[in-house]
Amino acid sequence: MTASALAGPTVRVEALTRRFDHFVAVDSISFEIRAGEIWGFLGPNGSGKSTTIRMLCGVLAPTSGSAEVLGYDVARDPEEVKLRIGYMPQGSSLWDDLSVEEHLRFYCGMFGIYGADQARAVERWMERLDLKERRSQLAGTLPGGYRKRLSLACTLLHEPKMIFLDEPTSGVDPLSRREFWDLIVGLAEEGTTVLVTTHYLDEAEHCNELALIYGGKIIARGTPERLKHAPDGGETIEIISERNVAILDAVEGLPFVRGAGLYGSALHVTVNRKEDAVQLQSAVEQLGFPIASLAPVTPSLEDVFASLVRTP
Ligand SMILES: Nc1ncnc2c1ncn2[C@@H]1O[C@H](COP(=O)(O)OP(=O)(O)OP(=O)(O)O)[C@@H](O)[C@H]1O
Ligand SMILES: [Mg+2]
Repeated sequence: MTASALAGPTVRVEALTRRFDHFVAVDSISFEIRAGEIWGFLGPNGSGKSTTIRMLCGVLAPTSGSAEVLGYDVARDPEEVKLRIGYMPQGSSLWDDLSVEEHLRFYCGMFGIYGADQARAVERWMERLDLKERRSQLAGTLPGGYRKRLSLACTLLHEPKMIFLDEPTSGVDPLSRREFWDLIVGLAEEGTTVLVTTHYLDEAEHCNELALIYGGKIIARGTPERLKHAPDGGETIEIISERNVAILDAVEGLPFVRGAGLYGSALHVTVNRKEDAVQLQSAVEQLGFPIASLAPVTPSLEDVFASLVRTP
């Protein structure tokens, strides 16, 4: 490792590619993550998020391209990478018949943390993730949210400078999701760099930078704010009507409609250009349904995402 590698970004990815036979799961992606950043990786099922993470964590070899994590090349020095990062995989990394405390001790052992240091690390992370009262409970009997807490604690025991969290909050109730994010934001403030994937776009607002991946390619990048105000001329219209579902069915296929989706009681339709809003309005009026309101709104990340995935 060189001094310049240490001073540079925490993650540097260059034309990273992974094939499975002839299928290209990750297609020549490039990006950098700076120290202390929360970098959000968004994309539909099967778009290549976990495959990318597995390459960056040194557990899956890239087909081509390169990636450096904390100054180490993931293909040349995967063991060095694994020792220094925290990786919370998407699937379970727990054993049903080990208790909370046994898990934490086991993971400490994997990272060479023993004796008083181990006792301190176990207590510290049980405390921080609210696991103390469940220390003797077998992981197999933990509710879903607590299984995720335990997985996260196992990821943090060795105080890694860079953590990869693959859908850490899937299956976690909304209140616990908020607590998870408080912790993730706190870790970043303490200097930990975070790469996190999620399907909950409201969570993406916590990220400093976002990348949207689709079909193995990064199709959009930027801060949540920048993505919401992408200067591409599109406009999002909010429609409130008792017949939102029927309106959605009717407008989805229109050529000037880039994306549409239901958000609570509102229907959001993103059109290609500002001028298309007039056409949309007349198309909706022709359906003859009662409309409570129809007006432009600032798009949510859901809107941006839906429209980008539709027209990559
Ligand atoms: N070991 C493998 N062998 C063959 N194909 C694979 C393998 N691992 C992943 N794939 C394929 O690569 C593509 C990307 O998968 P990946 O798990 O990276 O997606 P993802 O974005 O994490 O999806 P999700 O949101 O469902 O977790 C998928 O089509 C998947 O079926
Ligand atoms: Mg995945």
